[in-house]
Amino acid sequence: MDWQPWIEPSRCQRDTLPKFDRALESSSDVRTLIKNANCVLPSGVQKVDVLVDNSTILGIAPPAGAAADEVIDAAGLHLIPGVIDDQVHFREPGLEHKEDLHTGSVACAKGGVTTFLEMPNTRPTTTTPEALLDKLQRAASKSVVNFGFYIGATYDQATASSNIDVLKSVSRTPGIKIFIGSSTGDLLVDDQSALEQIFAETTLPICAHCEDETTVRENIQRYASTGNVADHSRIRDTSAAYIATKRAIDLATRHHHPFHVLHVSTRLETELLRSAPEWVTAEACPHHLFFSVDDYERLGTLIQMNPSVKTADDVAGLWEALHDGRIEVIATDHAPHTLDEKRQPYPKSPSGLPAVENSLALMLDAASKGKCTLEEIVGWMCEAPARIWQIDRKGRIEEGFDADLVLVDLQRRHTIENQNQLTKSGWSPWHGETLTGQPVRTIVMGQTVFAEGRVKTDVRGREATFRAAR
Ligand code: DOR
Repeated sequence: MDWQPWIEPSRCQRDTLPKFDRALESSSDVRTLIKNANCVLPSGVQKVDVLVDNSTILGIAPPAGAAADEVIDAAGLHLIPGVIDDQVHFREPGLEHKEDLHTGSVACAKGGVTTFLEMPNTRPTTTTPEALLDKLQRAASKSVVNFGFYIGATYDQATASSNIDVLKSVSRTPGIKIFIGSSTGDLLVDDQSALEQIFAETTLPICAHCEDETTVRENIQRYASTGNVADHSRIRDTSAAYIATKRAIDLATRHHHPFHVLHVSTRLETELLRSAPEWVTAEACPHHLFFSVDDYERLGTLIQMNPSVKTADDVAGLWEALHDGRIEVIATDHAPHTLDEKRQPYPKSPSGLPAVENSLALMLDAASKGKCTLEEIVGWMCEAPARIWQIDRKGRIEEGFDADLVLVDLQRRHTIENQNQLTKSGWSPWHGETLTGQPVRTIVMGQTVFAEGRVKTDVRGREATFRAAR
């Protein structure tokens, strides 16, 4: 293999704009044999060799002596499909001092995330075909992992106008993101008739940030002046999450529209999911699975995010819903802000935290403690997002699928340290935590992009493609 030198993340910035055409994209044109790994296959865990040809999985258990240019001996490791993180905020364009598409993707590579789907609350917002194309072109030139971008829904109360025509016509996107409650940025669609129209007239899958705007605004009047970050969970409280999630599930049910509830944070919402139709899916985030209101004293505004962290009982409810399938996906809502920004007094401190480079390791650590199995992790972080967003050839180790693969060491112990974080924001709310289990090698479309603790920053990921009607 023609190895490029390892390059520090900050030193590698390409600015060419490749077209989206698989045939034109550069390929590694090598055969790689991954030997001796315990592979998490759709049929279960099996010790089999995997042969990768160029960017595709050519064979599972290929005949002995199959020719390969490169052999990776993965004895003692597990091979899983690359993680697909269906909710990240990478801040480019507009807020690149927090993160950009290169640094965010480098953090993905370290974390075992081979495909990210990014949210539209950048500056400008991704609410026009031009803004979407701009992001796709930027990512093609600088992302080391595969990528996709949501199109955001808009509604202007003063003129009663929206971007419905864009939402109905745009392609090259996993789906529509609606902020039914406002969060970072100014995207908000709270008007019932506008929401009815989006669910009635569009065909792209929809996902939403569900926190009831009226409830949050009323609560702000009561708590904002106290300056106590714990009030964030009283302002963005259980009923704010419940009311908005109920409203959105009702819309999706009546309009029979594929719908994904982002970052479920309460046990009460998981009860709604019990009776939701099968075209309604949901996700949980590591911060809601590992933090609760009890952690405000220790971590303060570092764990301020939207939706807010809730009680220990809500955390338990989310785990139960993951185990019984009411919640299908784990994604990060990676939302980097600088430490200086986060250390401002509440409520000046922004909501959100970085997580993409630690989410898989956190889940492997949970598996080491008996909270879940590796197969469940693969279901939540790889298979389900590929299925829900109908991403072509991803989410499974299967012949003909893309060679997006991660080798994980289930025994390796490591400590998360701010100084080792590759996100441009340079910190983690899990700083100081020692975990058991770590991704040790990440392969994107057949090319190793992370190994031996370093990222190969000249690898380029590709635009994800989607099967759903669009
Ligand atoms: O806490 C959050 N921060 N929640 C969101 O929904 C947005 C995110 C951000 O972009 O900062």
